[in-house]
Amino acid sequence: MSVLYEKKERVAVITINRPEALNAINYDVLAKLSEAVEAAAADDEIYVLILTGAGKAFVAGADISLMKDFSPVEAKRFAEYANAIFSRLESLPKPSIAAVNGYALGGGCELAMACDIRIAGARAKFGQPEVGLGITPGFGGTQRLPRLVGASKAKELILTAESIGADEALKIGLVSRVVPDEELMGTAFELAGKIARNAQVAVRQSKDAINRGLQCDLATGLSYEAQAFSVCFSTEDQKDAMNAFVAKSKLGGFKNK
Ligand code: CAA
Repeated sequence: MSVLYEKKERVAVITINRPEALNAINYDVLAKLSEAVEAAAADDEIYVLILTGAGKAFVAGADISLMKDFSPVEAKRFAEYANAIFSRLESLPKPSIAAVNGYALGGGCELAMACDIRIAGARAKFGQPEVGLGITPGFGGTQRLPRLVGASKAKELILTAESIGADEALKIGLVSRVVPDEELMGTAFELAGKIARNAQVAVRQSKDAINRGLQCDLATGLSYEAQAFSVCFSTEDQKDAMNAFVAKSKLGGFKNK
């Protein structure tokens, strides 16, 4: 299986599994990734997704052997198929964490950027090497990278095709944490656990408000936030948590409704 799907309590772990090709993305990987994302989306027991790679890479890009003889039409079809899956992951109500365990190049960096949170093991490497292959980034790199790190740094990375290490990725805000490699999955589960223990309606409304707000002007974003805030007041969790606070009692946990 080119993509593995495991459930661990409230967490779905999706592992890109073509280690012999450093998890390079082909149609089979995309189809299986899509199935895994849809399985996590449909499973009410799952609150958080973790994406990682088998072996020494997260994902070393789209599959170059597959792309090398593409016609323009085939290239567009490949990019649009991947974009649809990455955008689905990005807009999924449930949050996702990319646990970047090694090379995250080209399509791999782009997959990590479609996740909500990126954490890196110390040996992780990030980059968009496409212009060195005679192409542009094709799975969202020209769009998500500048939104995450600003236009100047994004252009530096994309136009030079140079990769950066985990510490530099942290410095520019491409990842939110760097941890020793052996602690990467533990840290990802710890973060996922913290998210899973919070009120899920509020978690999902927060993610949605952030994502929508990043695409629009401040006033529109603030109205999305007011709407998200208001939705939370229809939940038992909001009443229970606020009543518990006022009564100085401890809430046992959320009902997630
Ligand atoms: N596509 C296809 N195969 C790949 C691959 C890729 N993106 N990356 C690695 N592989 C394969 C290698 O061909 C090799 O296969 P063989 O054993 O059959 O020769 C195997 O994985 C192991 O790779 P290396 O021997 O090259 O491993 P290394 O440790 O010496 O080097 C590396 C690692 C620096 C990441 C190097 O593999 C590399 O440069 N890979 C390509 C990275 C790249 O350019 N990615 C961008 C692709 S374009 C893209 O992603 C477009 C887009 O936006 C959609």
